[in-house]
Amino acid sequence: MSFTVAIDGPAASGKGTISRAVAAHFGLGHLDTGLLYRAVGKRMLDGEAPAEAAATLTADHLADPDSLRGPDVAQAASKVAAIPEVRAALVDFQRAYARRAGGAVLDGRDIGTVICPNAEAKLFVTASPEVRAGRRHAELLERGLETTYEAVLADVQERDARDAGRSAAPMAMADDAVLIDTSTLSIEEAVAAAIAAVEARRRR
Ligand code: DC
Repeated sequence: MSFTVAIDGPAASGKGTISRAVAAHFGLGHLDTGLLYRAVGKRMLDGEAPAEAAATLTADHLADPDSLRGPDVAQAASKVAAIPEVRAALVDFQRAYARRAGGAVLDGRDIGTVICPNAEAKLFVTASPEVRAGRRHAELLERGLETTYEAVLADVQERDARDAGRSAAPMAMADDAVLIDTSTLSIEEAVAAAIAAVEARRRR
């Protein structure tokens, strides 16, 4: 039986951590759809045309996720994600993954609204821009990348504006999604809230 959990939200909201924990708890597969856009963004930075890069994306391009986690690739991902041809080229892969036997969690920006409007459970995970920038700043420092809190906050706000303001599948909360604001929650509390919300949908 397939069971799809759609988890959307802005950068550094905690949706990645929550998605991995929900997938592990329920024994579901997990697809971080941001990685698809990051891989296309990286190839654009390397000189390829974004639409062509999206149309020819393979698992090999996702094999080294750590090389896709930096801020330059994040900004490039947000830019290519506004191109309708890029989004169209990535739809089939995401929908096929969502319906894999055994069920799946997909996290991104448009999963509950565009990719999987019929997902059995939908969450929208958010937090204030300041909290998200603080988390991302700490994460980047831990990975040895030199940056300031102010630069990270500006980066987060720029991406939020582009991701929510674009006309092609903008970041948005689906009407039937459960909102989880992680601003004042610990990781354990946020994960527990997400698991409870998915559990409630599973019993319906
Ligand atoms: O989740 P992330 O920060 O890795 O995503 C990187 C960028 O990719 C994000 O700024 C917008 C884009 N994206 C998107 O448009 N749609 C998705 N489903 C996932 C990511």
